Amino acid sequence: MKVAIVGSGYVGLVTGVCLADFGHEVVCVDNDQTKVDRLSRGEISIHEPGLGELIKSNLAAGRLSFTSALSEAVPTAEMVFISVGTPSRRGDGHADLSYVYAAAEAVAGHLSGFTVVVTKSTVPVGTGDEVARIVDSANPDADVEVVSNPEFLREGSAIDDFKRPDRIVIGIANERARTPMAELYRPLYLNQAPLMFTDRRTAELTKYAANAFLAMKITFINEMADLCEAAGGDVQQVARGMGLDNRIGPKFLHAGPGFGGSCFPKDTLALVKIAQDFGSPMRLVETTISINDQRKAAMSRKIVAACGGEVRRKTIGVLGLTFKPNTDDMREAPSIDIIGDLLDKGARVVAYDPQGMRAAAELMDNVEYAASAYAVAENADALVIVTEWNEFRSLDLARLRRAMASPVLVDLRNVYSYEEVAKHGFTYFSVGRPD
Ligand code: UGA
Repeated sequence: MKVAIVGSGYVGLVTGVCLADFGHEVVCVDNDQTKVDRLSRGEISIHEPGLGELIKSNLAAGRLSFTSALSEAVPTAEMVFISVGTPSRRGDGHADLSYVYAAAEAVAGHLSGFTVVVTKSTVPVGTGDEVARIVDSANPDADVEVVSNPEFLREGSAIDDFKRPDRIVIGIANERARTPMAELYRPLYLNQAPLMFTDRRTAELTKYAANAFLAMKITFINEMADLCEAAGGDVQQVARGMGLDNRIGPKFLHAGPGFGGSCFPKDTLALVKIAQDFGSPMRLVETTISINDQRKAAMSRKIVAACGGEVRRKTIGVLGLTFKPNTDDMREAPSIDIIGDLLDKGARVVAYDPQGMRAAAELMDNVEYAASAYAVAENADALVIVTEWNEFRSLDLARLRRAMASPVLVDLRNVYSYEEVAKHGFTYFSVGRPD
């Protein structure tokens, strides 16, 4: 099939490249010409395992191309994906739909023949109706079906998530959109991925519901971790005992410094706003947001306590800055608030992250950046693991210990166990486990 992707950000790029890899003919559009030029040479500016290779092989196969001109992509396309950003609107937390609506209007003028216009961006309920109205008023002759097809991929494992999804949710307003959508995803369907057809509004709500539920699940286990610390218990074993129940499942039950990233914080807030607008508040999600917000301050208090109640003029080494491993994304990373707090309290902060230091340096210029975990440990009064990159899982603890001024390890991701670090002489603090 011939596919146009409008918006070559994270979701658009992964969608376009993976669809090209299925054999479709894909043109990705972006209004940033520099980005288009770089992508056309197979260069990407984000860190996502496997993405660069897939772009290069599909460019070489002639199935994938990039342009800044809608006129080169839309008229021939049977399907046009809108995958532009929906950031939180400044001031009120609603999703900012101006990019989606501008894209819909711009696309409308180039449509030719029957075209399915698919919203891939995370959008509030009713956006598909508005996109259909915009397209219709901008180009009354256009023959379109507007479909909602939310994306569930995770940063760091996006290619795998796209190619092996748990499900594909497709919201249609009219039966004639069904066949082209089924055809588009045929390779996945053949791989047994359930294709769930529903109405457009339900699809839009499903995306927010899934993200909010996962955010809630993480927040639940984080509060459980606090209770384990207070009452004496091991949150990892509690999570295991819970997760073995099929109705609960083991995933997203890892206690930590709170959720971050470009999706959960923004989408939980948007869902709360949508629900309030409809007079049907989602109080569990409201509470989830506030607990998660408070968690970062609680984590910096934990670090201060581990340092004997005072961090002024102490050197705190931070391992991991990004909101999760295998990405260079710093958006809403818990490290930002935690480090900000430590700096406010007079600490010197030295940090290392395998991929996130460039983005971090733009956000935090009074942090010193080091070249490795061992360089961070040099003369540190405490080391804090904030992001669970694989390279932090098997550190040479004896070497770290020797480099440090005082052997305090605060493990906010429960990467180590008390036994393995205690034998190297560390004082160890983790999350929701006996110290
Ligand atoms: C999330 C969803 O998982 C995807 O399904 C969704 O498509 C995506 O948002 C989106 O809407 O675009 P992502 O933000 O890439 O994906 O990352 P996650 O792996 O979900 O992690 C989010 C945050 O939760 C991270 O800060 C992570 O450290 C934290 N987390 C996750 C925990 O603290 N504990 C866990 O058990 C799991």
